[in-house]
Amino acid sequence: MKVVAIVPAAGRGERLGSPVPKALVEVRGVSLLARAVSGLLDSEVVDAVVVAAPHDYHAEFVRELAPFEERCEVVVGGHDRSSSVRLALESVPPGAYDVVLVHDAARAFAPGAIIRAVVDTVRSGAPAAVPVLPVTDTVKVVDAAGVITATQDRGALRAVQTPQGFTDAVLRAAYSARLDAATDDAGLVEQLGEKVITVTGHPDSMKITTAFDLAIAEAVLAPKEE
Ligand code: CTP
Ligand code: MG
Repeated sequence: MKVVAIVPAAGRGERLGSPVPKALVEVRGVSLLARAVSGLLDSEVVDAVVVAAPHDYHAEFVRELAPFEERCEVVVGGHDRSSSVRLALESVPPGAYDVVLVHDAARAFAPGAIIRAVVDTVRSGAPAAVPVLPVTDTVKVVDAAGVITATQDRGALRAVQTPQGFTDAVLRAAYSARLDAATDDAGLVEQLGEKVITVTGHPDSMKITTAFDLAIAEAVLAPKEE
């Protein structure tokens, strides 16, 4: 079974506030982009990677990924995450791969074991698989005035990570249907009525969004890989 990983990396990183796109931000001398792509290829279950780059940084992303060029392609991404995923998926010939992963460049420290668990779950027959962790905060619903209207049952909540894995057919069906916007790819697949299986995620797969997250990556995550 062949596996391709789509890496949406076309975001600007506004919450991080860096002058370059977030994927090019370095942690201990290695960019988030290079870390995410090498993590996927080193997992030994991913055959090829397609990266969605900001339109004005395509050439720079190609240069950054030169060490992986035999198994890595760079396409121009879109205005939001899902259009970046869609554009990358369109560059992959239908049926060329059995399993398609979608993995945020911002989750640059995802352990190989999690990548393998997601792929194994789809290989075993699941239409879709996502890594999740229990939610440790109590989660409230608020109205426009900031008044709490409900408290969620924390025991039933999970925080969702990437890589998310899908059969080629299911992910293409999700992206060709007219569905409500979703903040992750599984959210689209759920709207198709397909079963999405959860596997245990990992704290190291945290999404690097803010300067605080970057400091955690510098101090805790990168040293583990050195
Ligand atoms: N992404 C993308 N195309 C976009 C927007 C986001 O490929 N138009 C990617 C980002 O590069 C990132 C992932 O989607 O790898 C998750 O998005 P997020 O963490 O929000 O990154 P940014 O959008 O870059 O950050 P911000 O929202 O703070 O600007
Ligand atoms: Mg964003």
